[in-house]
Amino acid sequence: MTKFDKRGNPVSYHSQSAIEALDRAFDLLHAYQADPLAEADAIIAEHPDFAMAHAFRAGALATATDKAFEPELIKSVRAAEALASKANDRECLHIGACSAWLDGDWNRATESWGRASIDYPHDLLALQYAHVGDFFLGYSQMLRDRVARVLPHWDRSIPGYGFVQGMYAFGLEESGDYAQAEEHGREAVALNKQDAWAVHAVTHVMEMQGRAGEGAAYLGASADGWAPNSMFAFHLWWHKALFHLDANDAAAALKLYDEKIAAGGFGQALELLDGSALLWRLQLLGHNVGERWTDLADKWETRLNDAYYAFNDVHAMMAFVGAGRGASQTHQIATAKRAAAGQGVNSMMSREIGLPACEGFAAFGRGEYAKAIDLLSPMRGKANRFGGSHAQRDMFSWTLTESAIRLGDRALAGAFVAERLSWKPESPVNRAWGLRAAQLKGRARHVKDTA
Ligand SMILES: [Fe+2]
Repeated sequence: MTKFDKRGNPVSYHSQSAIEALDRAFDLLHAYQADPLAEADAIIAEHPDFAMAHAFRAGALATATDKAFEPELIKSVRAAEALASKANDRECLHIGACSAWLDGDWNRATESWGRASIDYPHDLLALQYAHVGDFFLGYSQMLRDRVARVLPHWDRSIPGYGFVQGMYAFGLEESGDYAQAEEHGREAVALNKQDAWAVHAVTHVMEMQGRAGEGAAYLGASADGWAPNSMFAFHLWWHKALFHLDANDAAAALKLYDEKIAAGGFGQALELLDGSALLWRLQLLGHNVGERWTDLADKWETRLNDAYYAFNDVHAMMAFVGAGRGASQTHQIATAKRAAAGQGVNSMMSREIGLPACEGFAAFGRGEYAKAIDLLSPMRGKANRFGGSHAQRDMFSWTLTESAIRLGDRALAGAFVAERLSWKPESPVNRAWGLRAAQLKGRARHVKDTA
């Protein structure tokens, strides 16, 4: 007799207690709480022939976008594939998605999870993995529309309704619909104050609208809900640090870096990304970050040969520039070139964004600001192709603005500042850039940097 999970999805496994345990592990992942992988391990230890448990573990490992997890990902994918003949159609879509991800075909993987969420609209796990896939692929509108496809099938009576609202909120935010995003995000947080993704969606709205003071206060006031036992807290603290930085409070940003971001030990690429992204912004604004780059660069160096995800490569490069490690910069560029010459989605990302961005940041580090601008400027309109959020990709605008000012190109600096002020007119950071740009005397665009 067919068994079902708590949302009514068919599960091809005989043990209802194992299915219920897996439901609890799903819910941890939906809220980004505790350690869903440890839960999966415990279930698999007792039920090694539970296909969906392996597919769940594989999906979580895949969407961490960290080559360090690949050996474990391979184990889970192979275990799930070996059980596929006993799995139902829905589970086969999950298994196929994980196999595709492992093959480097993140598009096929995301579509497979997406198809599972269409055929089984209450398959919240499939929706979440597809949502995260859209995030890493940089598909802003799909972050919204893939969730919209299933919304008619959901209401408050179905467990996990708030998580759907939280995902929809983030998709709306990345699509520029800030009012609706905040409404859906706040509704989700009201339903579950532990829902870190929904808090994150509201946070992004405030980031994009330049509501720095309000954003820092919102995260501070809501932290009792999302921070305890969260595996995503580091990223929300990173956002709070950005708010402080945007309000010219570098000391508060550095305190968060030390106590809430670096203190976690940078055990995964996602945390290293936030470390690089925060220190890079601090350093661009002239703040002394001390020896903090050293630890970060050491950890990125263990990933120098990964060629796994261009977004990671670029953030590794930022650390190598920050730490002044020329050999690692050269090595990272070689890795990005190798990735660009390969196959799969990361090859495209590396060709289009990763490689020129690595070269552009390295040029910036050498003080070759004209070269940095030449490399970074053309990618502004297509940087979404290597994934991430608007807020994360804002590093390109920051670097270009600072480069134009240091180069002394008054027209270009003024243009970049105008762009920034158009959407964050009150930002002290933007205004300070505006003042510096206005003080430039004007200089030809392509003079030698050493002049
Ligand atoms: Fe974010």
